[in-house]
Amino acid sequence: MAPNHRLRLRLRLAVGLLHLLLLPAASRARDTIAPGQPLRGNDTLVSSGTGSFALGFFSPPGSNNTYVGVWYAKLPVRTVVWVANRADPVRGAAGATLSVSSTGCALAVADANGTVVWSASPPADAAEGTCEARIQDDGNLVVSDQRGRVAWQGFDHPTDTLLPGMRLGVDFAAGKNMTLTAWASPSDPSPSPVVAAMDTSGDPEVFIWNGPTKVWRSGPWDGVQFTGVPDTVTYKSLGFSFRFVNDGREATYSFHVRDASIVSRLALNSTGAGGGLLQRWTWLDAARAWNLYWYAPKDQCDAVSPCGPNGVCDPNAVPPCSCLRGFVPRSPATWALRDGRDGCVRTTPLDCANRTDGFAVLPQAKVPDTTQAVVDFNASLEQCRQRCLRNCSCTAYASANLTGEPGRRGCVTWTGGLGDLRVYPGFGQDLYFRLAAADLAVPEELILHGLRRCQPHRRASLG
Ligand SMILES: *[C@@H]1O[C@H](CO)[C@@H](O)[C@H](O)[C@H]1NC(C)=O
Ligand SMILES: *[C@@H]1O[C@H](CO)[C@@H](O)[C@H](O)[C@H]1NC(C)=O
Ligand SMILES: *[C@@H]1O[C@H](CO)[C@@H](O)[C@H](O)[C@H]1NC(C)=O
Ligand SMILES: *[C@@H]1O[C@H](CO)[C@@H](O)[C@H](O)[C@H]1NC(C)=O
Ligand SMILES: *[C@@H]1O[C@H](CO)[C@@H](O)[C@H](O)[C@H]1NC(C)=O
Ligand SMILES: *[C@@H]1O[C@H](CO)[C@@H](O)[C@H](O)[C@H]1NC(C)=O
Ligand SMILES: *[C@@H]1O[C@H](CO)[C@@H](O)[C@H](O)[C@H]1NC(C)=O
Ligand SMILES: *[C@@H]1O[C@H](CO)[C@@H](O)[C@H](O)[C@H]1NC(C)=O
Ligand SMILES: *[C@@H]1O[C@H](CO)[C@@H](O)[C@H](O)[C@H]1NC(C)=O
Repeated sequence: MAPNHRLRLRLRLAVGLLHLLLLPAASRARDTIAPGQPLRGNDTLVSSGTGSFALGFFSPPGSNNTYVGVWYAKLPVRTVVWVANRADPVRGAAGATLSVSSTGCALAVADANGTVVWSASPPADAAEGTCEARIQDDGNLVVSDQRGRVAWQGFDHPTDTLLPGMRLGVDFAAGKNMTLTAWASPSDPSPSPVVAAMDTSGDPEVFIWNGPTKVWRSGPWDGVQFTGVPDTVTYKSLGFSFRFVNDGREATYSFHVRDASIVSRLALNSTGAGGGLLQRWTWLDAARAWNLYWYAPKDQCDAVSPCGPNGVCDPNAVPPCSCLRGFVPRSPATWALRDGRDGCVRTTPLDCANRTDGFAVLPQAKVPDTTQAVVDFNASLEQCRQRCLRNCSCTAYASANLTGEPGRRGCVTWTGGLGDLRVYPGFGQDLYFRLAAADLAVPEELILHGLRRCQPHRRASLG
């Protein structure tokens, strides 16, 4: 070994030793609370690896209440991504504590008088021995028992924000339903009526709800993306990846970011025309600010079923509603007033028994609502067609998995009216809808001339 190499090695060892000696002093913030060592006052936990996330007490602007929250430790803008006691605040600014119990792994938030205002505990058999709570580099608050088993974690109880690696949807095996619920207002993290949740009936879809009203539908997962978020493919260049699991044990969505320098979150906002807005924000280092990368609902066709059953919404058409080929408006008077919600009805009845029906194709579609649809990921598109043709209540079919093997791309079939149908310029998939032979025979050009269009009705009460 050359002398200067040896010198460099010795130097490196010395620097390493210095780091080790300085480490306890340099890392003042802890990442863990243990029984008997509650978090209080202005203390925070900071994740120990990358130091990306902090957990501590905060008061939203304009509020006199104190909450336990998780925020980005390194960003200059305080952005709270998770709140423990969102509906159970500590009144006032001083004296709150967060503690972990010595047995049972229970977390508790208490006020200055020691009164517990919020607590969370795992099932009795989930924890053994002494527990501790740790804030991780991914933003997850994890309570683990003596054996290192996860007894309880914040990622199972999202607030309004989905971080990379967090799941939105239902874990049937664990009996967990992970939803996003928007803050009531910027000064109040308590739950608003605006909720984003996975509907697992039929082919699973995410809905934004405002109370009992559906504000937006993601459409089913097509193997790459939700059919209602057709520009997802354009994210890949940024190093995003998406995971959709639908295997009987769980039906969940999550996203991941390969490049650690990209900070991105999906958050549910209670503003927006329909009373709910899902927003993807990314952090811009240069601007030191969050940038709105994507949001939904986006246009008038993103409202839930503005053109009714068998109506098609096209945001680039004037007016945007038309009927599917072979259909006419159900209520011509309201349709003429550009309220399309009653949708469209068939011109010619189907003739299933005589086997003369066929299918027409609507390209670039966001497929209809799949909550009542039947899905089989094993069937081919041709098997799908045959299956639909044979079943007299089947009104449409489409591929269920656009990434699948060509011979077996899955099959979704619909019965009854085709609700919440829209098209995209340059995106979307083929939808095959059933028509009587008479309507299939009419040349397309004549039908196009016969389209009756209308403006989707804007729900007055929702501004
Ligand atoms: C916490 O920080 C605030 C603002 O910096 C300060 O006014 C307050 O006195 C601190 N409280 C404690 C208990 O240190
Ligand atoms: C917060 O406390 C101050 C002083 O007691 C009071 O004037 C103010 O109205 C309170 N704000 C809220 C939102 O309760
Ligand atoms: C603590 O107790 C005192 C006396 O009962 C009461 O006045 C005060 O409001 C309590 N503080 C909180 C934060 O509940
Ligand atoms: C999950 O929660 C949402 C919103 O509260 C609800 O609509 C849905 O039915 C729940 N799903 C399950 C499987 O419990
Ligand atoms: C809600 O959306 C508005 C408009 O994009 C934005 O200004 C605001 O910061 C958002 N609120 C939250 C909590 O993200
Ligand atoms: C089948 O076709 C025949 C001849 O066109 C017609 O008379 C009959 O009504 C059709 N059956 C049904 C069930 O529509
Ligand atoms: C799908 O097809 C494969 C191969 O043909 C078969 O092994 C498997 O059991 C099928 N799965 C279902 C759910 O039908
Ligand atoms: C036709 O489809 C409906 C809805 O998917 C289903 O309930 C029914 O069992 C099917 N009928 C036959 C004969 O397969
Ligand atoms: C869709 O197809 C891809 C590629 O063949 C496969 O990896 C994936 O498991 C399929 N998804 C479902 C839900 O069958």
